[in-house]
Amino acid sequence: MEHLRTMGAFKLIIAALFYSCVSSSSVERKIYIVLNDTVPCVRLLNATHQIGCQSSISGDTGVLHVLETESDLDWILNTGPHPPYMVVMETAFFNRSVMLRMKNSSRVAGVAVIVSKTGPADGFSPHTTCPNQNTGVYSGSYGPQYTDCNVTVWNPLGNGLSYEEFGFPVFALKDENQTEVIRKCYEDHNARSNGSAPQYPLCAMQLFSHMHAATDTVTCMRRTNLQTKFSINPEALCDPLNDFNVWLSTKPLNNSAKGHLENESFVIAAARLDGRSFFWEKAPAAEGTVSGIVTLLAAVQALYPVTQEAPPPRNIFFTFFQGEAFDYIGSSKMVYDMQHNEFVMDLKNIDSMLEIGQVGLSSGRDLWMHSDPVSRKNSSTVEEEVSALMKNMTSVAADLNLKLAEPDVTQALPPSSFQRFLRARQIPGLVLTDHQSAFTNRYYESLYDTAVNLNLTYPDGLSPDEQMRYETDTAKSLTDVATLVARTLYRQAGGEEKMLKNITADPKTVAQLLYGFLVQKNNSWFRSLLHPDVTKKGSSLLASGPPQFYIGLGPRSHGSVHSVTKFVQYILANLTGTVTNLTETQCQNPSDVSTENKDLYSYLWVSGASSDNSSAEAFCVRASVRLSKAISPAFELLEYGSRDYSTWTESRWKSIKARVFLVASRQLEMLTLGVGVAVLLLSLLVTYFITSKAELLFSAAREAPATTY
Ligand SMILES: *[C@@H]1O[C@H](CO)[C@@H](O)[C@H](O)[C@H]1NC(C)=O
Ligand SMILES: *[C@@H]1O[C@H](CO)[C@@H](O)[C@H](O)[C@H]1NC(C)=O
Ligand SMILES: *[C@@H]1O[C@H](CO)[C@@H](O)[C@H](O)[C@H]1NC(C)=O
Ligand SMILES: *[C@@H]1O[C@H](CO)[C@@H](O)[C@H](O)[C@H]1NC(C)=O
Ligand SMILES: *[C@@H]1O[C@H](CO)[C@@H](O)[C@H](O)[C@H]1NC(C)=O
Ligand SMILES: *[C@@H]1O[C@H](CO)[C@@H](O)[C@H](O)[C@H]1NC(C)=O
Ligand SMILES: *[C@@H]1O[C@H](CO)[C@@H](O)[C@H](O)[C@H]1NC(C)=O
Ligand SMILES: *[C@@H]1O[C@H](CO)[C@@H](O)[C@H](O)[C@H]1NC(C)=O
Ligand SMILES: *[C@@H]1O[C@H](CO)[C@@H](O)[C@H](O)[C@H]1NC(C)=O
Ligand SMILES: *[C@@H]1O[C@H](CO)[C@@H](O)[C@H](O)[C@H]1NC(C)=O
Ligand SMILES: *[C@@H]1O[C@H](CO)[C@@H](O)[C@H](O)[C@H]1NC(C)=O
Repeated sequence: MEHLRTMGAFKLIIAALFYSCVSSSSVERKIYIVLNDTVPCVRLLNATHQIGCQSSISGDTGVLHVLETESDLDWILNTGPHPPYMVVMETAFFNRSVMLRMKNSSRVAGVAVIVSKTGPADGFSPHTTCPNQNTGVYSGSYGPQYTDCNVTVWNPLGNGLSYEEFGFPVFALKDENQTEVIRKCYEDHNARSNGSAPQYPLCAMQLFSHMHAATDTVTCMRRTNLQTKFSINPEALCDPLNDFNVWLSTKPLNNSAKGHLENESFVIAAARLDGRSFFWEKAPAAEGTVSGIVTLLAAVQALYPVTQEAPPPRNIFFTFFQGEAFDYIGSSKMVYDMQHNEFVMDLKNIDSMLEIGQVGLSSGRDLWMHSDPVSRKNSSTVEEEVSALMKNMTSVAADLNLKLAEPDVTQALPPSSFQRFLRARQIPGLVLTDHQSAFTNRYYESLYDTAVNLNLTYPDGLSPDEQMRYETDTAKSLTDVATLVARTLYRQAGGEEKMLKNITADPKTVAQLLYGFLVQKNNSWFRSLLHPDVTKKGSSLLASGPPQFYIGLGPRSHGSVHSVTKFVQYILANLTGTVTNLTETQCQNPSDVSTENKDLYSYLWVSGASSDNSSAEAFCVRASVRLSKAISPAFELLEYGSRDYSTWTESRWKSIKARVFLVASRQLEMLTLGVGVAVLLLSLLVTYFITSKAELLFSAAREAPATTY
C-alpha cells in the first residue's frame, strides 16, 4: 500500500501547485493595469559610450510617487519611508538638474514623464549645446578656432539629457486616460495626509526595458560577431542606425553607372530627413527638420517643370539625408560613396551646394546665409563663388519680401550636412537658416518641436481635408522661402533669367505637406501617392498622427523603408514623375517594355486619388527619384571605433512594458515570498525523498502484484 500513499502525496502536490498557479494568475488579472501607450528611452551606443536608459532584466518596481512640488522631491530622495520610488513627473520637472539628482539616488527605481502638448515657455532641448561637434568639418587641422562651438554656441538651451546614461527605466506617458489611471491609483493609496506616511496597500509601478547591448559599439559588435561565429542561434545585440537617403536630379542619371561623369556639373540642394528626442521613435522635428523638407519639396515642384522646358547648363541634384542627427550618417555615406566611385557622380562633379537648415521663420521673415570662413579664406576661387552665390540669392530675395543677410564672416557653419562635403573637398556653398547665430528653435531635438512650435493652427470646424488645404501663415511664409530656393538654384545652374518669373512655389502644396508631416500622415493626398497595399492593409505606415523622424534601423525596425523616407520618395515621384500606362507587372519589370529604362528611372505603383463618385485606380509612375543607403561607412569598413564616421548603434531588447498594481504590504510581500520559499523547499525535500527511496518505493510497488495474485 506504500505506493498508493506516494501517489496520493504526488497528487496533492500537483493539485496544490496547479491551484496556486491558477489563483495567482486570476489575482494578477485583477490587480495589474497594463499601460499601453508608453514610449521608452532606449540604449544607444557609440565608439566610446552608452547612453539612454534600461531596467533590470525582470523589470524595475517602485512605489508610485507623483512629483508635483519641491517637497515631493525631498520625499522621494530623502524622507519617504517606502523606497525605491517610481517617480511620475510633469514636463516642468523633466530637466537636467532633477534628472541628475534622480540618477545619483539609489531611492529611485524609474521615471515616467507625463508629456504635455506644449513645451516649457523658456525652452527645452535635451540635445547638446554643440550638435555633432566631433564629426563636422572643424578640427585641429581645419579651422581649429571654430572647434567645439568656440565662436558660436548653436544650441545654448541644450541640456545634454539625451546623451546621459541612466541605470533605471525612463518612460514617456502620452495617453491622457492612462495618466488618469495612474493619478487615481496614486491619490487613493499613496498620497500623504498631513505629511505622514501613507499606509499599505500602496500603488506601485513596474517598468520593463532591459537592453541586451552594453558598454559601447566596439564591444557590442565584437560580441555580436562572436555570436554569429559560434552560436547555433546567433542573435545580434545591437544594430547600426540606418535607413535611406532620397535623391533626384533634374536630368535623369544612369543609376547603374558609377563614378565621375564627364562634362557634367551639379548644383546640390540638400535638406535633412531625421530628428530625435530623448525617447525612442518620438521625434516630431517640426522646425528642426520638417521646415527644411517642406521647403525643398516645394522648391522641387516649382523648379522641375522649368528645368524640363528650359534645361539650365548644370544639373540640379536634390538630396534628403537620413540620420544626420547621429553624426551625419546619410551625408557621410554619400560623400564616402562619391570618393570611392560608388555613386552616380563624384565630388569633382559638384559645382556648388545650397543646404536648407531650420527655416521655420518663427521670429519674423529674416533669413541668414551661412558659409565656411576657412575655405573662403584659403581659396580665392571659393571666396569668389560663395560671394557670387550670396549675391545671386540676395537679388532673388529682394523680389520676395524676405530679408536675407550674411552673418559675421568670422562665424563658422552651423551643424549641417554641407560640413561633410567640406571635409572631402572645398566646395562653395551656403546653409540657409532663420537664425543668425544661436538657433531660434527653443525645442531643438525635443518632444516639443511640434506643429505648435511652427505656429501651425487651423480655424475650428474644418474637416480633415479642409484643414489639409488650409493655407496657414506658416505655409505662406515657407512658400516664399521655397520660391527663393528654387529661383536661386535655377540661376546657380545657369538657367535663363527670363524663366525666373515662372518659378513660384505653390502655397497649396506647402499647406498639404505641412499637414501631412506635422498633423496627419493618414490623409487623402498621402494615401493617393503610396502603393495600394499600404492603404489597404492599414499598415503602420499610415497610423494616425504625424510621422516620427527618428532614423531607426531601416527595414528591420520599420518592416520596409522608414515612413518619412518613403513619403518623401513618393511625393517626389508625384511632383516630378509621369503617369504611364504600364500594368502592375510591367511596373515591377519595366525592362520587359522596350520603351522603358530602369537605369534611368524608377517605377512606382501608386494608389491614385479617389473621388466621391469613383474609387481610386492604381497606376504606374515613372520618375527619376532614387533611394541610396544611409548607413555609416564605419560599419562597411568594420571600424567600430571610428573617429571620422558615425558609430551609433541601437541596443536590442526583448520587451518594453509598463504596468501599475497594488502591493499589499512589506510584511505581506515577505510572507508571500516566505510561503513560496517554504513550498519550494518542501517540494525539493519530497523530490529528494522520493528519488532516494525510489528503489524501495517502486520495487515494493512492482512486487506488490506478485504477492497479491
Ligand atoms: C490596454 O489594452 C488592453 C487590451 O488591449 C486593455 O484591456 C487595457 O484596458 C488597456 N489599458 C489601459 C490603461 O487602457
Ligand atoms: C560618444 O558619445 C558620448 C556621449 O555623447 C560622447 O561624449 C563621446 O565623445 C562620443 N564618442 C565619440 C567617439 O564620438
Ligand atoms: C478617455 O476616456 C473618456 C471617457 O472614458 C473618453 O471619452 C475619451 O475618448 C478617452 N480619451 C482617450 C484619448 O482615449
Ligand atoms: C490633518 O490635520 C488636521 C489638523 O491636525 C486635521 O484636522 C485633519 O483632519 C487632518 N487631515 C487628515 C486627512 O488626516
Ligand atoms: C547605364 O550604365 C550601364 C553600365 O555602365 C550600361 O551598361 C547601360 O547601358 C547604361 N544605360 C543607359 C540607358 O545608358
Ligand atoms: C508665432 O506665434 C508667436 C506667438 O503667438 C508670435 O510671437 C510669432 O510672431 C508667430 N510667428 C509667426 C511666424 O507667425
Ligand atoms: C588650402 O588650400 C590648399 C590648396 O588649395 C589645400 O592644400 C589646403 O589643404 C587648404 N587648407 C585647408 C585648411 O583646408
Ligand atoms: C486612415 O484613414 C482612413 C480614412 O479615414 C481609414 O479608413 C483608415 O483605417 C486609416 N488607416 C489607418 C492605418 O489608421
Ligand atoms: C500626383 O497626385 C495627384 C493627386 O493624387 C494626381 O492627380 C496626379 O496624377 C499625380 N501625378 C503623378 C505623376 O503621379
Ligand atoms: C502605352 O502607350 C503607348 C504609347 O504612349 C503605346 O504604344 C502602348 O501600346 C501602350 N501600352 C498599353 C499596355 O496600353
Ligand atoms: C459625380 O457624378 C455626378 C453624376 O454622375 C456628376 O455630376 C459629378 O460631376 C461627379 N463628381 C465627380 C467629382 O466626378
